[in-house]
Amino acid sequence: MLLCTSPSEMHAACNELRARTIAQPTLGLVPTMGALHAGHLSLVAAARGQCDLVAASIFVNPTQFAPSEDFTQYPRTFDADCAKLEAAGVDILFAPSAGTMYPADNTTFVDPGPIGDRLDGASRPGHFRGVATIVARLFNIAQPDRAYFGQKDAAQVAVLRHVVRDLNLPVEIVACPVVRESDGLAMSSRNHYLSPAERARALVLSRALAAAKAIADSSETRADALRTAMLDTFAAPDPNPIARDVPTRLDYAAIVDPDTLLPLTDTSRGALLAIAAFVGNTRLIDNVLLPPKW
Ligand code: PAJ
Repeated sequence: MLLCTSPSEMHAACNELRARTIAQPTLGLVPTMGALHAGHLSLVAAARGQCDLVAASIFVNPTQFAPSEDFTQYPRTFDADCAKLEAAGVDILFAPSAGTMYPADNTTFVDPGPIGDRLDGASRPGHFRGVATIVARLFNIAQPDRAYFGQKDAAQVAVLRHVVRDLNLPVEIVACPVVRESDGLAMSSRNHYLSPAERARALVLSRALAAAKAIADSSETRADALRTAMLDTFAAPDPNPIARDVPTRLDYAAIVDPDTLLPLTDTSRGALLAIAAFVGNTRLIDNVLLPPKW
């Protein structure tokens, strides 16, 4: 696996590797912030299966964190990440320093507009502007044919599809399913922050989604009814006694159109059930996609 640490080095390495392999090879890019787990590696596996060459990036992007957020504490496990990416068959790893990505005179940003203010964008103002900016830049540097993102961050997928469409970026966004722990918790680098009691309480997110999905599967299509099921599950005493005293605050429980992130009243044509909550001080998100009924 080739390691590149500056945009110009990465750009040249991608071009060189493309020229050295079969005619017109396809390049898949997997952008990450590191602290890699099986969710990230599922994206690499998808890229490996569908592309001739695979690039990954590790960059904890400062512009997508608000000053009050966890940028400095964000887990950084670079050596272990490299070993995982190498074993997964990544050809090129881009791991730039903040200085090479954002020199002091960097003033250009990609603003996705109103879609960037929905769901996580409503609770984290400026977050999707930071995400759109870094991802557009990674696309320009690596020039991938396809880029792989997790459905775990469903709003991120919707925002990036919107940006790619608006800016005519020549890349296909591929969304991959949420990878979960065996008890249902969506894998996340932020799960590292959880104490054992918080880890137990964190299951309330997937439990709330499962409650809504269960009534959707029994043919309920009113978004209000699904949302009530989520809220009731969230508010109920935790079935696990060790989780009962963990402070938990709901950020949002929403039933939205998966493409626009706008609220739905009826889910017959498909819907995204999404939830975000603080478990202790850790903000966690999860979601379930309901397919169209016909
Ligand atoms: P990060 O949180 O490191 O996630 C990198 C990619 O892994 C994202 O596309 C995310 O959706 C995916 N992912 C995380 N957990 C997953 C899970 N349990 N199942 C499936 N996929 C999962 O998302 C970011 O970084 C950043 O915003 C980034 C796109 C790299 C821009 O800085």
